[in-house]
Amino acid sequence: MATGKQWRDAIRVSELEQNWVTRVEIGTRLIAIYDTPSGLYASLALCNHGGADLCDGYFDGHVIECPLHQGAFDVRDGKPVSAPATRPMRVFETRVQGGMVQIRL
Ligand code: FES
Repeated sequence: MATGKQWRDAIRVSELEQNWVTRVEIGTRLIAIYDTPSGLYASLALCNHGGADLCDGYFDGHVIECPLHQGAFDVRDGKPVSAPATRPMRVFETRVQGGMVQIRL
């Protein structure tokens, strides 16, 4: 059985919301992909504070603000930057191959 992380196709680059967050489903996981001035980043889509969908939040630069309690995270490393978010969110490596965004899961 294969172990470890693998690159998975997520979405075509052309389908991403520019300078915004796009929700994708990979297997059973909901993933948020962030298009930013310094490239693409990805995290679990559900907030680790109360489970809200970060893709319905407000995205500005490199910070995603949760729609439920306005906790915020830096999408580059997952660090919480605003309460009530206190734990880092889970982030994933991204890359682009042949016009397809891939995420290492
Ligand atoms: S659910 Fe996201 S800050 Fe509470």
